[in-house]
Amino acid sequence: MSAIIVVGTQWGDEGKGRVVDGLARQAHLVARFNGGDNAGHTVVAEGRTLKLHLVPSGILHPGLVCLIGAGVVVNPQRLVTEMDELAALGVDVGPSRLKLSAAAHVILPTHRALDGARDVARGEAFIGTTRRGIGPVYADKAARVSLRAGDMARPEQFAERVAENVQAHNHSLQERYGAEPLSPEQVAAEYCAYARRLAPHLADGSALVGEALISGETVLCEGAQGLLLDLDHGTYPYVTSSSTVAGGALTGLGFGPRHVSRVVGVAKAYTTRVGAGPFPTELLDEVGDRIREVGDEYGTTTGRPRRCGWLDLVILRYAVQVNGLDELALTKLDVLSGLERLKVAVAYERDGERTGAFPAEFGVESLAQWKPVYEELPGWEEDISEARSRRDLPPAARAYVALIEEWVGVPVTFIGVGPEREQAIV
Ligand code: IMP
Repeated sequence: MSAIIVVGTQWGDEGKGRVVDGLARQAHLVARFNGGDNAGHTVVAEGRTLKLHLVPSGILHPGLVCLIGAGVVVNPQRLVTEMDELAALGVDVGPSRLKLSAAAHVILPTHRALDGARDVARGEAFIGTTRRGIGPVYADKAARVSLRAGDMARPEQFAERVAENVQAHNHSLQERYGAEPLSPEQVAAEYCAYARRLAPHLADGSALVGEALISGETVLCEGAQGLLLDLDHGTYPYVTSSSTVAGGALTGLGFGPRHVSRVVGVAKAYTTRVGAGPFPTELLDEVGDRIREVGDEYGTTTGRPRRCGWLDLVILRYAVQVNGLDELALTKLDVLSGLERLKVAVAYERDGERTGAFPAEFGVESLAQWKPVYEELPGWEEDISEARSRRDLPPAARAYVALIEEWVGVPVTFIGVGPEREQAIV
């Protein structure tokens, strides 16, 4: 009877898919709790590389049931494409293995169009969204006008409501943003076909999770994005529109805190961010470029180059506080090999005042005033990709991990030293 929650502790792209993949062996149900196809992770199956945005990567573990939970927003076109790609590789994506919560909300093409139009209209203050319609669909959800996956159970009525919603969005697109409208009839016909295809996968997600927990099974809750993109606790307004923190697993899947046995925070051994917004430890020099190239820091969803910077322990401490982390999984430590000196932010400073707390609630203007206070450590030259225990790491790499544990106050229970499944210290 336990739920394990896996969350990102930075600005997303921490390598959560990899950690979920490792923990999936202990689980019976893997459930995604927030976000939509703005997220993405790469999986390798049957020698082919697939980019999954919606289907939990647990689908590659035979026998596991995967749930797309109520807190997720679903682009049905994307979901059907992923199902087809997986089926072509012989992966079972039938209704008994892949479940879609009836309470998840549905992204329309007009949500995507509005997302792009709104971000352009922000001008200099653009967010740099993934343009997957995430902000507009969560806005419609909060305004109680959105369509839910459960509406797909009656495809014809669903199609009628799709047409009405497209009509309403067209009004905004044309009047407000001078953008092209979309054909309500065409979108409705397309969505009617998706509804027929996806209806057999509809499930009562909260009941599924509840039954699993009560019968003693392990539910692995997979978060998308990371703490600083959280709608409430991130660097607002440069955030996504969902709850990316551990609490989001409870609301996004519909179960209570008593069942949580473990909260795992995933952190990259350095920091990256895509899109606009403050980033205290950003490196705008050749060290940042080197990290980007060695770490292949380009977005899975949009291909955009990621901004790179030093590890920020102020952020990781904030992640422990907001998520109640039990442990950290540290990914991509190998990317730092070969750097002569490493810096790690341990506090922030402003006008002689020093703080160890991340000032998220006071807004981005306040955050921009704080400068990181660094500790410097020697780097290591050695290739660490063959290390399978901490003893195999060079002393400088061990010291780097020890410094993180000391400042953050939770143990590092996983260290990624290369992209392959077995390239890890667990
Ligand atoms: P949205 O989620 O598409 O609305 O984008 C809002 C912000 O979150 C932008 O800065 C995106 O780059 C960022 N973002 C959204 N999803 C991800 C992700 O999976 N990884 C990293 N950044 C993301």
